[in-house]
Amino acid sequence: LLKLKTSRFGRQLRIRSKTESTQNEALSWAKEGAQEGALVLAEEQTSGRGRQNRPWHSPPGKGIWMSMVLKPKIPLQFTPHLTLLTVVAVCRAIKRVVPVDVGIKWPNDLLVGERKICGILLESFAEDERLLSVIAGIGISVNLDEQDYPEGIKDKATSLKIASGKEIDRATLVAEILYEWEQLYQLYEEQGFGPVRTLWEAQSITIGRTISVNTPYGEVNGVAQGLDESGALVLLGRDGQYRKVFSGDVHFL
Ligand code: BTN
Repeated sequence: LLKLKTSRFGRQLRIRSKTESTQNEALSWAKEGAQEGALVLAEEQTSGRGRQNRPWHSPPGKGIWMSMVLKPKIPLQFTPHLTLLTVVAVCRAIKRVVPVDVGIKWPNDLLVGERKICGILLESFAEDERLLSVIAGIGISVNLDEQDYPEGIKDKATSLKIASGKEIDRATLVAEILYEWEQLYQLYEEQGFGPVRTLWEAQSITIGRTISVNTPYGEVNGVAQGLDESGALVLLGRDGQYRKVFSGDVHFL
């Protein structure tokens, strides 16, 4: 069905026609002992969620809504690496399959132009400061048409179909994502964050731009310079000071 080229990712697979959120399904599966790489795909989500508890619009049949179980052997504070790793993999896979100019907005949105095409949500589960599992969710607007978007997000989102003018085969794209993702995950296991950071920076549309980030501690403005070793975004302010942001939403100025 999926023509997998991977050895671990997607080898345990559950496909649902409708579910609340693939994040919930993957989590309960992880608790029942799913192996690393176990994947839940859904045609439709009735309460898909995004970062910061925002709803994620997941209409039937036109998107890729999926979540995978990861069991990385890394310290808890390294989980941002996985977010960045995942978005790099998705970005590379999309570029292989669809002729569109996608780029990464920090930390993990994929945009075409200024419009969002993909969002990524990682939820970590730890016990006694030890990371047990991470549920990595990916939402891609693949074959949505203009009329599939509700009012509030119409002008902020687009799909691969709208951007490229063609219908995309979702199974091919999923197989390509899993392949890129597994390769990069293996590289990360062997060599740490360095190579991922380089690849992320190469696909970034954030670096070099003047941005504002609304962090939990207030707004930070500056020109985006790059990532530090923890995955934080480094900004150079007009006062000549460097500042790091660890979470928040980026706005281009
Ligand atoms: C964001 O940009 O805010 C992240 C969006 C993540 C959406 C995906 S779709 C599959 C998985 N299941 C969910 O409920 N959310 C993620």
